[in-house]
Amino acid sequence: MTTREQARFDELLEADSRIEPRDWMPDAYRKTLVRQMSQHAHSEIIGMQPEGNWIARAPSLKRKAILMAKVQDEAGHGLYLYSATATLGTTRDAMTGALLEGKARYSSIFNYPTPTWADMGAIGWLVDGAAIVNQVPLCRASYGPYARAMVRICKEESFHQRQGFEILLSLMNGTPAQREMAQDAVDRWYWPSLMMFGPPDDESPNSAQSMAWNIKRFGNDELRNRFVAMLVPQAEALGITLPDPELRLDGDGSVVAMGPIDWSEFEAVLKGNGPCNAQRIQHRRQAHEDGAWVREAAAAYAERMSHPKAVA
Ligand code: 3HC
Repeated sequence: MTTREQARFDELLEADSRIEPRDWMPDAYRKTLVRQMSQHAHSEIIGMQPEGNWIARAPSLKRKAILMAKVQDEAGHGLYLYSATATLGTTRDAMTGALLEGKARYSSIFNYPTPTWADMGAIGWLVDGAAIVNQVPLCRASYGPYARAMVRICKEESFHQRQGFEILLSLMNGTPAQREMAQDAVDRWYWPSLMMFGPPDDESPNSAQSMAWNIKRFGNDELRNRFVAMLVPQAEALGITLPDPELRLDGDGSVVAMGPIDWSEFEAVLKGNGPCNAQRIQHRRQAHEDGAWVREAAAAYAERMSHPKAVA
């Protein structure tokens, strides 16, 4: 690295400009982007499993079509993010290998089971709702390919959140059993969705540097509080009770108190001891193996097309 390269990098950040793949960047900047972006991509792909579990069991053709569209969107989000991460010099094979060898993370939230249809509503409203709050600022991330990938992802997440809210609203306007199913799902998904934002800021080893590099625009706690504050009026509209009796908002609608998050549960899930960790990774491994022939065929075709004479 020359001081001129570092100075140029610092200038771009100072001007809140974008760093592009062609630009020099510190190794540590590149490394943390590969870490966060590949984790994000893995999360999108693994995140297809909990909802995919209900496509064949959706209560109507309309719900089935909406859920299929949502799950397909998530696959696309994974593709955008793997492609954006590959601009940093890694490959999809290397990223997938790291995931399957347990060397890369995916979001803790996808390690919970989906025992009822109401979970589809809770995931859309809470998980995709949290995703929007966490990811809209990423549309202004300093790394160009990441920020641009996030613009389209966030537009689609808004549809995901609305369809989840609408599933819960239908259930809350239904029978007592349906109302109970919706409340049970929110009780189970509420606290894990708050963990999606990461550990408290004072226990986050990455936040300070990521914020200095304009990758993260806000800390974990600020975005978590924004999300909870957004939920309160929506929960009232649903007639759903958020499972936190200590939750308090001030007159401006900002969170001033909330109950304790069980960080030991978060750490256990990150260590692989969540309810569905083994199942999620085994399913991803099997899908990777089952898809080997497609990758081989595509590579063989690309090889032949790159030597058209040989084909004649
Ligand atoms: N699940 C798994 N690991 C998590 C986590 C979570 N919910 N929250 C934090 N971690 C990990 C971090 O990766 C880090 O470990 P590492 O250094 O080994 O990577 C450690 O816990 C400490 O966390 P930090 O706050 O220091 O880490 P970050 O600065 O990276 O912040 C983050 C964590 C807020 C998740 C950030 O990485 C981020 O914003 N990522 C992009 C968004 C994303 O990945 N969202 C995941 C959900 S996927 C999704 O939204 C799909 C949608 O369709 C629902």
